[in-house]
Amino acid sequence: MSSFQYKNQELFIEQVALREIARQFGTPCYVYSKSDISNNWLAFQAALQNSKRAFKIHYAVKANSNLSILKLLTSLGAGFDVVSGGELERVLAAGGHAADIVFSGVGKSHQEIKRAIELNICSIHIESEQELLRVHEVAKDTNKIANIAIRVNPNISSGSHPYISTGSKNNKFGVDYEKSLAVYQQASKLSHIAIKGIACHIGSQLTSLEPFLNAIDQLLILVVELKDNNISLEYIDVGGGLGICYNDETPPLPEEYINAIVDKIKNTNLELHIEPGRSIVANSGTIITKVEYLKTTADNNFAIVDAAMNDLLRPSLYQSFHQIVPLQQENSASEQNYAVVGPICESGDFLGTSRKLRLNAGDLLAIKDCGAYGFSMSSNYNTRPRCPEILVDGSKFSLIRKRETIEQLLENEML
Ligand code: LLP
Repeated sequence: MSSFQYKNQELFIEQVALREIARQFGTPCYVYSKSDISNNWLAFQAALQNSKRAFKIHYAVKANSNLSILKLLTSLGAGFDVVSGGELERVLAAGGHAADIVFSGVGKSHQEIKRAIELNICSIHIESEQELLRVHEVAKDTNKIANIAIRVNPNISSGSHPYISTGSKNNKFGVDYEKSLAVYQQASKLSHIAIKGIACHIGSQLTSLEPFLNAIDQLLILVVELKDNNISLEYIDVGGGLGICYNDETPPLPEEYINAIVDKIKNTNLELHIEPGRSIVANSGTIITKVEYLKTTADNNFAIVDAAMNDLLRPSLYQSFHQIVPLQQENSASEQNYAVVGPICESGDFLGTSRKLRLNAGDLLAIKDCGAYGFSMSSNYNTRPRCPEILVDGSKFSLIRKRETIEQLLENEML
């Protein structure tokens, strides 16, 4: 259960009134619940522990990469899935261990690969033949052995938004299913490569188990073919992708998801690796925003708020739905149908369309379920400083990222 609750008509996160946070740190701002993040994490961990299968959870850093949140997850025992040298350094800065990091992504640079190999990370997930050869070359030059898994593209449709589907033939991700055996055979002949596993990630915000299980079926066929070719593996990494409820979706619970996967791989002795991102942090986070103006035009009622697409890109980019609720439930204004929009000069700058709200200028609103792919996708478009981030822990709260200043935005530029 989420820790966002109304008490006496006022919205709280754990034991802190969001209004108090807005008063201290201004708006817009991101607020996260520590207990929600921990509980989400523990749900995966408990299900995996109960399954008796050896496992590793590599949290997908891209979902929310704030150092305090990475530190919290490290303290819970997390490993990490990174997709850039920057994310790798974040994990280390937060106290994460190199041995618990996997590195995914189609375009790893020479420098990024070198750093990963020098650090002896758990595994580099190879996404092409050329990348395999580059990793081998760098490992040889550094006189080290690189641990790898091949990320296979199983050609399974995830059923989610096309921009966040990654496991179909037409996507840039992974090695084509048909080519994978040959790439493994090639890898097995390379002196500075150690084959550790097989990986896939078919997409994000999946709300049914079927695509996950179909993808694993494909991978298991390959695992047998590899064995026949004397290539044995230590782990299967099924990626991330478990969805959450933003509106009326009914995704499987972490326990149902884990049990179904464990059952699928029951005839193997492979360690199970997963890479959840959204399902760990999404429902823990909210944006508090202030209504600047109410503007009625011939066709629309606009609630113009101080958060915008630079703070939360998901509605503009994927037409995603996020609930928008008032901080104070009591309001004498009459209910209207509002488009909740930001100050950015684009018609695509909306946070919600057609929302029934009772509003006055100056009211505070919460945009819910922004803990994943919220701040981490934010930008400085329109020279807007990025929001502060605040972490709530019971009745306490602390600033975990300061609001950017305009001076900082100008700092790197020359006249
Ligand atoms: N592993 C890999 C290799 C990934 O590419 C991703 C996400 C994950 C794990 C974590 O997936 P999750 O459990 O969070 O679904 N910006 C989009 C989502 C992009 C996901 C990219 N890859 C959004 O806001 O919906």
